[in-house]
Amino acid sequence: MNNVTRYQNAALQYYRDLTGSSYLHYGYWDPIPAPSDELTVSQLRVAQEKYATHLLSFLPTDIHTVLDVGCGNGDNAIAMLEKGLKVEGLAPDPLQEADFLERTHGKAIFHVDTFQEFVKDPQKYSPQLTYDLVLFSESSQYMSPEMIAEGSATVVKSGSYVLLADMLRKDPEYREGMFSNCLVNSDLHKEMEKAGFKLIKTDDISAHIAPTLDICVQSFQTFGVSTMKYIANLIAIAVPPIYKVLRYFLGKQTKKLITEGLQASNLFHKHLCYEIQLWQKI
Ligand SMILES: C[S@@+](CC[C@H](N)C(=O)[O-])C[C@H]1O[C@@H](n2cnc3c(N)ncnc32)[C@H](O)[C@@H]1O
Repeated sequence: MNNVTRYQNAALQYYRDLTGSSYLHYGYWDPIPAPSDELTVSQLRVAQEKYATHLLSFLPTDIHTVLDVGCGNGDNAIAMLEKGLKVEGLAPDPLQEADFLERTHGKAIFHVDTFQEFVKDPQKYSPQLTYDLVLFSESSQYMSPEMIAEGSATVVKSGSYVLLADMLRKDPEYREGMFSNCLVNSDLHKEMEKAGFKLIKTDDISAHIAPTLDICVQSFQTFGVSTMKYIANLIAIAVPPIYKVLRYFLGKQTKKLITEGLQASNLFHKHLCYEIQLWQKI
């Protein structure tokens, strides 16, 4: 496993511990809370449950087999199995594999690898030659638009679908910062069309995910910043030389990251959107 994958896995595990749930996505707040409303972690959990229901309402009725790319701990897969679909999960994370298999009770297969590796030789992984739908639920940001488009085209046949839900860059000039790993929406459209897909449904749910950013920033402001200050004070008192060295190396960088983190919601509204897109191979 390379460093980037290890880092992503650690970040996802942290998010899981923080929310106390198996979900690894932003959720779907419905109704959208008013700006003056206090946001709570239990409301976030409800939003996370509503996300699967809303996302899966986009599944076409004429499908039987699904490849869930970046399936996480299996929440979407469980909901799809309950709908009678045949599901295969794919993610490069052995921890997620264990959770996914336990929670789907052996009713779904899991492939421990990246989509990039999977599409090089899909038959090595699965007897399934093609799928009726490929799902990317908040996993598109780990791949290039070309990989999503061309990779999907190799595992679907004409008439089959790609369902994608993620944060996307509406501003292609936004190239540096915490959300710059999100795909540029216009690039994704260009590559999907080039690979023979047609957009048949889209839903901009930016306003329904934004409260999750707000609650993360609020918690960070309340607990994160004060905890970091407390630890820094302890180190400064207990071991001043270490504090000096840490401050020298981490001071500026940490300040920059904190300032950016507190601006997460503003950055999102200015440069990004969150869309659900249903594409069909023609
Ligand atoms: C934010 S989580 C989303 C999980 C789940 N789909 C959901 O909606 O809750 C991102 C997922 O993508 C997976 N992932 C990361 N890089 C990947 C890659 N190159 N190929 C396939 N999956 C990847 C992660 O391991 C994780 O399962």
